[in-house]
Amino acid sequence: MTVIIVGAQLGDEGKGALVDRWGGEADVVVRYQGGDNAGHTVVEDGEEYKLSLVPSGSVRGKTGVLGNGCVVNPRTLFDEIESLQEQGLDPDVRLAERAHVIMPYHRVFDNMEEADKDESGSGTKVGTTGRGIGPTYEDKAGRRGVRVGDLLDPDVLRDRLEYTVPQKRAIAEEVFDVDTGVEFDVDQLVAEYAAYGERLREEGMTVEAGDFLYEQHADGANLLFEGAQGTSIDIDHGNYPYVTSSNPTAGGAAIGSGIGPKLLGEGEIVGIVKAYLSRVGSGPLPTEMTDAEEDLANKIREKGGEFGTVTGRPRRIGWLDIPMLRHAARRSSFTAIAVNHVDVLAGLDELKVCHQYDLDGDTLRTVPATTEEWAACEPAFREFETWAEQDWSAIVEEGYDGLPAAAREYLGYLEEELEAPVYAVGVGPDRDQTVERETPWE
Ligand code: IMP
Repeated sequence: MTVIIVGAQLGDEGKGALVDRWGGEADVVVRYQGGDNAGHTVVEDGEEYKLSLVPSGSVRGKTGVLGNGCVVNPRTLFDEIESLQEQGLDPDVRLAERAHVIMPYHRVFDNMEEADKDESGSGTKVGTTGRGIGPTYEDKAGRRGVRVGDLLDPDVLRDRLEYTVPQKRAIAEEVFDVDTGVEFDVDQLVAEYAAYGERLREEGMTVEAGDFLYEQHADGANLLFEGAQGTSIDIDHGNYPYVTSSNPTAGGAAIGSGIGPKLLGEGEIVGIVKAYLSRVGSGPLPTEMTDAEEDLANKIREKGGEFGTVTGRPRRIGWLDIPMLRHAARRSSFTAIAVNHVDVLAGLDELKVCHQYDLDGDTLRTVPATTEEWAACEPAFREFETWAEQDWSAIVEEGYDGLPAAAREYLGYLEEELEAPVYAVGVGPDRDQTVERETPWE
């Protein structure tokens, strides 16, 4: 069967712990979008593994697939694989030949355009991770990208780069007035990237991913699709332009892996929700804690470890936003949800949830399409009873009914609003600190 894990908010919902936990029953873990802009830490037998590109199941000996919807930086990929090998693992990672390659000039473009947007005072700076994600997807859509399959043939690779690189260099130098270096040197790029291709071939790492996954599924394998980022930063369904350049929503799993929507629709689609909001990067956040709530925001930030995994930036903090979650549940057809960081909210003096928005006198139950309208939305809050600190390990043993009544009330409200049952509740960062009601594989 198939299970898709989707971030229901702005990324950083704690998907990693659940992908890791439920990955135990998967045979193949698939990433279908994004690249090394994601980031999570997997802890296995007390050992910490930091990953931003390699699918987390690889730590558990599963086959990891980077689907055609991903953008792959071979430098990061091999660095991560080598670190895992140094830690005693032998990860089995396959790459879609149709996936696009992040080239060094894509990172230059990412940072250059961000700096330009910043200096222009246009307010359009996104606060990207600087990993070259957007510029790589731009080249994909512009039909001038380099695909993983192209790395396997140095002549094809050279042809692609000889067409593209002079244009990139000219834009960097003449439009953005930036000095260019080795990132734009075709000979050096061909030498380095053809060597990656050689290594991929020698190690048998490239596949026609759609066929590979289709056959695995036909043989009865369990496929886990690991969404990166989240619904509100989806290029189509997020708050454009403060978005990433791919589709974290469930539909992205079909496009980005080559498995059709009918087959995926027979499986489960689990939305991962954090019990409050955090945002790294620019863009509106209607429920962002106010200056008067600064102490509370700091407390949550510290307790929840709300600092970017990839960038280390402190994240902005907000109250749970139900219109955002209704939007996510509808876009991805959640069959279930998992709610994380319920322990972080313990011991607060107050607990608020935005039930709906007020926009110029109208009531909105979901997110409006333009970012300007979304920024103008006034949250209408509902107060919830708070819960005290608990012996969370004992509750993990006891199960869902062991959760404090106030927390169950909060979770029940979410189930009702999102029309999906809660399968799991995160009460700590480790995958074992999860109160599990049901697994999606049942
Ligand atoms: P990019 O994906 O690097 O282009 O960044 C675009 C936006 O997505 C920025 O606001 C980033 O902070 C955000 N973003 C990218 N990846 C993640 C993630 O894994 N978690 C949370 N936010 C992310």
